[in-house]
Amino acid sequence: MFVADDPAFIADPYPEFHRLRALDEVHWHEGLGQFIAVSHAAAAAVLRHRSLGRIWTDATPLEQFASFNLLHRNSLLENEPPTHTRLRRSVSAAFARGHVERLRPTVEVLADGLVETLAEKISADGEADLLEHVAQPLPAQVIAELLGVPKQEAPRLVVLSNSIVKMYEYDLPEDLRREAEAAAEAFAGYLRELTEQRASHPGDDLLSHLVAADLTGDEVVATGVLLLMAGHEATVNVIGNGTTALLTHRSEWKRLVADPGLVEPATEELIRYDSPLQLFERTATADVEIAGHRVAEGEKIAALLGAAARDPEVFDDPGTLDIGRSPNPHLGFGGGIHYCLGAPLARIEIAAALGALRQRLPGLRLARQPERRPEFVIRGLRTLPVTTD
Ligand code: HEM
Repeated sequence: MFVADDPAFIADPYPEFHRLRALDEVHWHEGLGQFIAVSHAAAAAVLRHRSLGRIWTDATPLEQFASFNLLHRNSLLENEPPTHTRLRRSVSAAFARGHVERLRPTVEVLADGLVETLAEKISADGEADLLEHVAQPLPAQVIAELLGVPKQEAPRLVVLSNSIVKMYEYDLPEDLRREAEAAAEAFAGYLRELTEQRASHPGDDLLSHLVAADLTGDEVVATGVLLLMAGHEATVNVIGNGTTALLTHRSEWKRLVADPGLVEPATEELIRYDSPLQLFERTATADVEIAGHRVAEGEKIAALLGAAARDPEVFDDPGTLDIGRSPNPHLGFGGGIHYCLGAPLARIEIAAALGALRQRLPGLRLARQPERRPEFVIRGLRTLPVTTD
């Protein structure tokens, strides 16, 4: 059984997922202290089962994690109905497909400008980091703009967010746990300041709408932070992991360059092929059966999205990157009541990045091997040095 912080496993978890899936759809993972669902059917069942909930348990010791716990306890992602329904309703209209579709031209202009900067850097220095110049700033700037957070704050919030989400990994060292709390405190403090400003001077931004909605002060802060974090963490890594996949499968990159009609299916395939979010936990609120395994009330089971994404029962040649793949019923955005609220926006951002890259830099290639981040749950790169032919 895999060890979640083993660098060899993190480098390529897919052979281990394949081995486990061939043995059974659900396994007990002693190290994680929970069941893991590794087939597509079992992972989907975990996400959708109404007796498997996102039940928040505070990080301990409590006095050390006041801000981290406050942000999560009041987050729609960490709650079940009726709180979840009320919180999700307060923001769902802003992320509806029709509403975000209106942002597409703005996102495309932004992506174009960032790719132009990348191209200039490559011309000047011979190579440049695609993460730094495109994958990181694009989603962060878009979500900041939507919430009405000044654009120049986005880079600082990305750093804070990166520290906070380390807490979702397993066996995190003490210094990083302390760093996560300090980041949560700074992030919450910043959002509190901003919501006070919006309360006295409302604008047409999402944060002003949240302040006016039926939410407590802590809920407004937690929802703002959740949106700013969820709004970029995964999207950055789809663009990073995805571009790497394309550039290491040169024929797929060439297909994309030749045919703009492939941008849309490529977006789905990149989310499937190298999932940016690998694991989501649920806790049983009653005894539950998943793929013939009993999960007793109070026990946990995780959906392994990366394993589900390579299930041969659902995807032909699951290990093959095929940017024209259709249908592509991946679970990358989850399922059930917590289904990703930002999916329409994320799709627009990824498509805009791919569109701008294929158009402006058709000769794009890796300058060197990218450096991977040493985490399992949030799967991404630290650097992605690229150049052109
Ligand atoms: C490609 C990028 C993205 C991926 C792969 C992704 C994936 C996911 C997944 C798997 C979940 C469900 C978690 C669970 O069931 O436990 C989720 C929830 C969520 N996502 Fe995303 N996400 C992405 C981008 C975004 C963006 C851009 C936003 C912008 C606001 C966003 C906001 C949210 C929120 C608010 C939730 C919680 C929904 C709820 O609990 O009802 N995500 N996301």
